[in-house]
Amino acid sequence: MTANATPVLSARGLAKSFGAVVAAADVTIEVPAGQRLCLIGSNGAGKTTFVNMVTGYLKPDGGAIELDGQPILGLGPRQIANKGICRSFQIPQLCVELTMRENMLVACAAAAPSGLSFWRDPGSDGRRARADDLITRFGLAAFADRPVSELPGGVRKLLDIAMALTRKPRLLLLDEPTSGVSAEEKFPAMDRVMEAIAGEAATVVFVEHDMDIVRGYADRVVAFYSGRVIADGAPDAVLGDGEVKRYVTGDAA
Ligand SMILES: Nc1ncnc2c1ncn2[C@@H]1O[C@H](COP(=O)(O)OP(=O)(O)OP(=O)(O)O)[C@@H](O)[C@H]1O
Ligand SMILES: [Mg+2]
Repeated sequence: MTANATPVLSARGLAKSFGAVVAAADVTIEVPAGQRLCLIGSNGAGKTTFVNMVTGYLKPDGGAIELDGQPILGLGPRQIANKGICRSFQIPQLCVELTMRENMLVACAAAAPSGLSFWRDPGSDGRRARADDLITRFGLAAFADRPVSELPGGVRKLLDIAMALTRKPRLLLLDEPTSGVSAEEKFPAMDRVMEAIAGEAATVVFVEHDMDIVRGYADRVVAFYSGRVIADGAPDAVLGDGEVKRYVTGDAA
């Protein structure tokens, strides 16, 4: 990539307050194509607020957001998803009474150009093949016919991410993909997620609290504290930063 290539995501000067709480203050993050960017920060630092603003779930008080150089600020979540920015949630958004495959089919159908008219034909062959392909690539085939209400939290998390990939997004934002995943499953789960994302040629931004996962999967780390970016760079440099140790990882002597 050349140094002046247009970033996939350009978020500049984002601001957001909830009453007296400043959730974003002059947040500027640009993400080049193919990068694996990790957002870290203690509880309430502003990570989910950033994800919500980029995906249209929250309107910033100020700033600019562009996808491939095109402004997207002011568009709603569905319009932004259609343009190529998709997400998973800190708490997965699933229909718990439907099976895993049915949830995937709904996601595939909702991603189709006909949109919500999917109810006429939710299980067309193309969608069924796409749903089953993603289920297999995420290693979830054994759970495909089980209702989501019976599935463990870590499996639900993976399903939510697989559903976010159905639109073949250009940029995927994952809010805490390993929370609720057992310690021994975290690395295998992230391997599957990253392989699937690479297979779709998507760029990824993920929020993570587990620093072993951060070190294992991020090309670059941005650290938040109190709505501000306090460090941005290579993982070793950011995790070794004095303010990050003090305010984020608690590693300060
Ligand atoms: N809809 C909202 N209404 C009021 N306050 C909010 C809202 N969303 C976020 N906040 C506040 O904004 C701040 C940033 O919250 P945010 O959810 O972005 O943090 P986070 O970094 O994702 O934290 P966590 O690691 O706990 O998920 C917090 O003080 C939070 O309470
Ligand atoms: Mg959060």
